[in-house]
Amino acid sequence: MGFSFTRNTLILLLWIIIGVFQVKAQVARLPADEVQALREIAAQVGKKDWNFGVDPCSNDSSWATPRSSLRPLYNNSLICNCSYPSGVCHVIKLFLKGQDLDGRLPPSLVKLPYLNTIDFTRNYLSGTIPPEWASTKLEIMSITVNNLSGPIPSYLGNITTLIYMSIESNLFSGTVPPELGNLVNLENLSVILSANNLTGELPVALTNLTKLTELRISSNNFIGKIPDVFQSWKQLQKLEIQASGLEGPIPSSISILSNLTELRISDLLGNGSEFPPLNSMTGMNRLDLSFNKLEENVPDLSGLSSLQYMFLTSNLFTGNIPNWITSRDNRYSHFFLLLHQLRLLAKCLKNNPCPKEQYSLHINCGGIATTIGNIEFEEDQDPAGIAKFVPVGNSWGLSSSGNFWDVDSTSNQYIATNVSILRMNNSELYTSARLSPLSLTYYARCLANGNYTVKLYFAEIVFRDNRSFYSFGRRIFDVYIQEQLVLKDFNIENAAQGVDKAIVMEYKAIVRNKVLQIRFHWAGKGTTAAPQRGTYGPLISAISVEADFSPPGNSKMKILIGVGAGVSVHSLVERLHRRQDIKRKRGYMAPEYALWGYLTYKADVYSFGVVALEIVAGKNNMKYRPDENFVCLLDWALFLQRRGNLMELVDPKLGSEFNKEEAVRMIKVALLCTNPSPALRPNMSAVVSMLKGQTAVQEHGTDPSIYGDELTIRALKDQSGQILQQPMSSNEAERARPVTKKPGTRREPRLE
Ligand SMILES: *[C@@H]1O[C@H](CO)[C@@H](O)[C@H](O)[C@H]1NC(C)=O
Ligand SMILES: *[C@@H]1O[C@H](CO)[C@@H](O)[C@H](O)[C@H]1NC(C)=O
Ligand SMILES: *[C@@H]1O[C@H](CO)[C@@H](O)[C@H](O)[C@H]1NC(C)=O
Ligand SMILES: *[C@@H]1O[C@H](CO)[C@@H](O)[C@H](O)[C@H]1NC(C)=O
Ligand SMILES: *[C@@H]1O[C@H](CO)[C@@H](O)[C@H](O)[C@H]1NC(C)=O
Ligand SMILES: *[C@@H]1O[C@H](CO)[C@@H](O)[C@H](O)[C@H]1NC(C)=O
Ligand SMILES: *[C@@H]1O[C@H](CO)[C@@H](O)[C@H](O)[C@H]1NC(C)=O
Ligand SMILES: *[C@@H]1O[C@H](CO)[C@@H](O)[C@H](O)[C@H]1NC(C)=O
Ligand SMILES: *[C@@H]1O[C@H](CO)[C@@H](O)[C@H](O)[C@H]1NC(C)=O
Ligand SMILES: *[C@@H]1O[C@H](CO)[C@@H](O)[C@H](O)[C@H]1NC(C)=O
Ligand SMILES: *[C@@H]1O[C@H](CO)[C@@H](O)[C@H](O)[C@H]1NC(C)=O
Ligand SMILES: *[C@@H]1O[C@H](CO)[C@@H](O)[C@H](O)[C@H]1NC(C)=O
Repeated sequence: MGFSFTRNTLILLLWIIIGVFQVKAQVARLPADEVQALREIAAQVGKKDWNFGVDPCSNDSSWATPRSSLRPLYNNSLICNCSYPSGVCHVIKLFLKGQDLDGRLPPSLVKLPYLNTIDFTRNYLSGTIPPEWASTKLEIMSITVNNLSGPIPSYLGNITTLIYMSIESNLFSGTVPPELGNLVNLENLSVILSANNLTGELPVALTNLTKLTELRISSNNFIGKIPDVFQSWKQLQKLEIQASGLEGPIPSSISILSNLTELRISDLLGNGSEFPPLNSMTGMNRLDLSFNKLEENVPDLSGLSSLQYMFLTSNLFTGNIPNWITSRDNRYSHFFLLLHQLRLLAKCLKNNPCPKEQYSLHINCGGIATTIGNIEFEEDQDPAGIAKFVPVGNSWGLSSSGNFWDVDSTSNQYIATNVSILRMNNSELYTSARLSPLSLTYYARCLANGNYTVKLYFAEIVFRDNRSFYSFGRRIFDVYIQEQLVLKDFNIENAAQGVDKAIVMEYKAIVRNKVLQIRFHWAGKGTTAAPQRGTYGPLISAISVEADFSPPGNSKMKILIGVGAGVSVHSLVERLHRRQDIKRKRGYMAPEYALWGYLTYKADVYSFGVVALEIVAGKNNMKYRPDENFVCLLDWALFLQRRGNLMELVDPKLGSEFNKEEAVRMIKVALLCTNPSPALRPNMSAVVSMLKGQTAVQEHGTDPSIYGDELTIRALKDQSGQILQQPMSSNEAERARPVTKKPGTRREPRLE
């Protein structure tokens, strides 16, 4: 027994010795000058945990840390190629990501002659790009989300081996150096300059980048028009120009970019323009042309059969919704138009006449019901979603639209929660908050008309202020109250002078038609990748709305327009000639007003329709219920129309002083005007022409499914067939969210 123990021990010792020799044998494989370079690099970037006691190419965990789901943003990998003669290794790639390294970009990189890839994303590095890098042979360079500043050095153009360059989310300023036009050698060039502070015009020399496949320049302060140089960039697959500072129009030469799969151009400055020609882009997957003042019609894009997302929010489209979008049984039925949202809203507005008037409203956005003092903030915990309308009781609701770009759709988050202890007063209001990737509208209904004080409670609970890349986020958004811009380029952290600090913004608002609307909107500015990709857009913690007047004992709603015997159909037609008049009397909320938070002039048409109906009927739309089967005048009118008995609607007080034909015509026009889809409403000149009897009145479509909205179109590939067969509830919409598929390009997903 003793013997065998000794023998085993001996064997064990031998093994240890052999093992040590094996490790030893590997130690010297990286040449001493590269090890020395790594020591310098460590000192320069502030890297303290490399273990120089082992060979850097040995896969020791200090040099190549295994991936951990606990730290998804962390990547610590030094990659060597050990296939050189006599087992010599060279460092070829260096990933130091999400490590909060607080030094500078290391000049000593140039001493690693075989290095082709560096990724220093998400650190705390300051300064600029060192001139020594001009002599490297880097192919991939990412320094995304750091505190780098100063001008983009012209010598970046010396690294002609580059195929991927991202300086996104730093503070680079000044103009783009024309020398970047020297990066002409390689295929599949990606240039990502987004979320900096760049100015000036884009240099003409960039037209030399004929191999450019990806260009992202969002959120900068460039000036001038979008250059008309697409002729030179025929290989482009991804183009992103959001809130870049550039002016429209989108040059029609963009049609040449037949390889585009992702096109995002939004928030262009300057005048309106036509929809750009995109028909050649048959591989298009994601398209966002929001907020560009695009005019006229949405053209037929039915050829873009790979389209998964299309956002055309807030443009100036007129015309009808093209058939290729709405038609259900054609081969483009994989486009799902967000019909159900409007249906829901229309239902809500119709079926919920105000039981009584409200004088205040308090919402703990994204959070649970909370009492502060004697004020109850209502809960607001619906998960919301890519395009969702959430009616909450009778008195308020919200609509949320947009998806967070560049993140897996399953990780879309529309509610934020605090990551550290909040110590401000009333912290319950701030521990959770609503987020929006594009547009979030709260609307309060049933408010007594009059003046109100609106308080918006904000606290930045996502970004941090420690020495970490968590502090480099810049959240910038706009706020509208009753369609008035009240906060432009608002940055909570700046306004509150820090993170986890409360700031309450107070405004006066006038409620004229019982509705108050507060809209939060992301206009493409700020960072989108700090601390992680998809972190951007408005954040709101709580809202309070209080009347500036005390509830009167006997409040009587003011009727917006004189209704009664004195008004004849003729006098109304006269009034139509003066559109100003109608504008001022924008009395009723068109569905899109509450849903999408913007007013087209077609909302005036809607208001006109309701008012016209009231005038003919001599009744108030919301108050009139012939019996419990009808919720309002409009509802009754639709019913009578189907029964072919519109005359029943006409106010008996009009006596014999009216022409029956004219009255019926007017009701029909009114019903046309109140179509839930703005695109399907006639325009005002058509209305006048129909009322005057100059053109025939089209019959109001009785198919309730002809609701539509040209704003947000989402393709529900594969699932669409069955979904379109059945009525859609918002929950189904959630489940039906498409799975993001990764396009098969070489560097997908985006290098982070
Ligand atoms: C380090 O790991 C890589 C990949 O896992 C492997 O190819 C390489 O041979 C390893 N090197 C050593 C010295 O073990
Ligand atoms: C580090 O990032 C690179 C490039 O994205 C990737 O290939 C590698 O697997 C990552 N390593 C770890 C440990 O996460
Ligand atoms: C490693 O180096 C050898 C020799 O130069 C080369 O043939 C091989 O392609 C390299 N491998 C990688 C992954 O870079
Ligand atoms: C960011 O860089 C600027 C300019 O180099 C420097 O003044 C500032 O202190 C840096 N900020 C942080 C948080 O390190
Ligand atoms: C970049 O290249 C130019 C022209 O080849 C050269 O004059 C310049 O010194 C280089 N810059 C750096 C920083 O190496
Ligand atoms: C951007 O540059 C302007 C001057 O061009 C400066 O006033 C502003 O502070 C800079 N913004 C940031 C975030 O550094
Ligand atoms: C583009 O490249 C050509 C040839 O390399 C050069 O002559 C021309 O000056 C470059 N254009 C610009 C605008 O830099
Ligand atoms: C589109 O890409 C393909 C291969 O990726 C290429 O052959 C073709 O030339 C490109 N089209 C244009 C217009 O550049
Ligand atoms: C934009 O519109 C304004 C006013 O209509 C006009 O004065 C200006 O010339 C237009 N600008 C461009 C670039 O067309
Ligand atoms: C959020 O804030 C509340 C209130 O200060 C605190 O009780 C809670 O622990 C915080 N949550 C986290 C994750 O720190
Ligand atoms: C309501 O506000 C408007 C504009 O601020 C003001 O002109 C008006 O006098 C106010 N009305 C009342 C009743 O206070
Ligand atoms: C460029 O990208 C295309 C398609 O994305 C790919 O087929 C091609 O091999 C790439 N070229 C190089 C040199 O990597």
